[in-house]
Amino acid sequence: MQPPSASGERKYLELRDQATRTASLIKEKARDDIVLLATHFDADGISAGSIMLSALNRLPALTHLRVIDRIDEKILEDIEQIQSGLVIFTDIGSGYLDIISKILRNRDIVIADHHQPLGDPVGVHHFNTHILGFNGSEEISGAGTAYLLAKALDSRNADLSPMAIVGALGDQQDKAAKRGFKGLNSEILKDAVDSRLIEVKQDLIFFGRQTRPVHRAIASTTDPFLPGLSGEEDRCLALLDAASVPTKIEDRWRTISDLSLDEKQRIVEKIVAHIISLNLKGEIVMDLIGSVYSLLREDPGTSLRDAREFATLLNACGRMNRAALGIAIGVGDRGDSYKAAQEVYAQYKTTLSKYMNWIATSPNAMRRGRHVVIVNGNGVIDENMTGAVSSLVSSSNLFGDKVTIVTTVTASGDAKVSTRATERLVEKGVNLGKTLQSLAPRHSGVGGGHAIAAGATIPKIELERFLTELESSIEGLLD
Ligand code: C5P
Ligand code: C5P
Ligand code: ZN
Repeated sequence: MQPPSASGERKYLELRDQATRTASLIKEKARDDIVLLATHFDADGISAGSIMLSALNRLPALTHLRVIDRIDEKILEDIEQIQSGLVIFTDIGSGYLDIISKILRNRDIVIADHHQPLGDPVGVHHFNTHILGFNGSEEISGAGTAYLLAKALDSRNADLSPMAIVGALGDQQDKAAKRGFKGLNSEILKDAVDSRLIEVKQDLIFFGRQTRPVHRAIASTTDPFLPGLSGEEDRCLALLDAASVPTKIEDRWRTISDLSLDEKQRIVEKIVAHIISLNLKGEIVMDLIGSVYSLLREDPGTSLRDAREFATLLNACGRMNRAALGIAIGVGDRGDSYKAAQEVYAQYKTTLSKYMNWIATSPNAMRRGRHVVIVNGNGVIDENMTGAVSSLVSSSNLFGDKVTIVTTVTASGDAKVSTRATERLVEKGVNLGKTLQSLAPRHSGVGGGHAIAAGATIPKIELERFLTELESSIEGLLD
């Protein structure tokens, strides 16, 4: 990894040193003990877990895998019951150092994570890019952190770099100009491009560029949100007709990847005209062109060929309780696993659009403050879906530039809260991860995450008081 500057140099050297030291420990322990790998259940977590599992399988090691949606004492006590000499956490753990070192004190622990850390890592090999001076919310994902360790374990693991890019896209880290990556993510992308595993092109970033009919690809794009087109397949079809872009070749629907440059230009011109006719600024259309990342070893026309679609497929698996299927795909299974994941994805889409319709048509489901919008999903939104709903409500910009808070009640009777900010609010000082980290324990719960996206679980009885305090802390910052 090339050090970009003198001050950067030390940081990069420390990162490499720490990766090497952590990798040696993993190798040594894996030689004669069972390894328990625990990873987070979203797209980044599944990518991170897949990278680490592939790397461990190359050692070889005997690995037991757990996919978890959060960390609390109960989950750690379950993990403690499983026989193993080394527990590796990926994309989760850094916010929970105290309870991890307390409950798992009798074994070696490695945490490879990019969340904002909290607590004292006593006895924990804490491989967290934040503490080495790299911004874990923007320039490296959990999968990226796992990848750096995997590469320190064996240089052959450079072939796992595409999964680190999938993970970073799952966490929406393509925030540099034109949907590019920053910092460590761009170094990892370089590994993937140099190994001819990923190709990066500037193109229309409509979602589903490999697999969806063009009008559906336009309609499914919510980032940027195109009023009158996002979610409106019929209107998108009419727009293609007006742009004289044929939607089919014989019986087969054409996809974005089938279109000529000229056809793409005509589509963009029509979208600009449409946006201007709504008295909105035509510039948002510039956000439709950006880096697209193709996985060159995947078949064209499948959703694994496009790294953004790949991430969405994994996210669907995790959130629909099929995380193991996501891991199977992440470590290279295709065929039946891929078919099953497609079905899970279809169910995920249906579930998510059911929730979005419910939000749009149930004014009582929602409360709007000056700087927050709170969706109360109790009895409607599944506990695993609050994060996905919160991300979608936030990126759809339906309620303006506010912090989005989605709550529901879990099977065990707790309240679950998923919060999302925007880049502009983060620039103004909002740090949801830090806010929830300090607020949740004051209400007998756990919470944390990133400045822009964070979550918490607290006793249900505390929810109203918790929300009031959360709202006033955000108002305190933004008023
Ligand atoms: O646990 P992890 O870091 O993997 O999850 C971060 C979550 O935050 C992801 O679900 C991701 O989609 C979401 N996110 C978001 N908006 C951003 C950045 C991340 O909704 N700008
Ligand atoms: O659950 P949700 O998708 O809203 O989580 C957003 C971010 O907050 C994720 O990165 C997740 O790992 C983190 N989080 C956390 N502690 C919690 C809940 C979520 O660190 N109790
Ligand atoms: Zn992550």
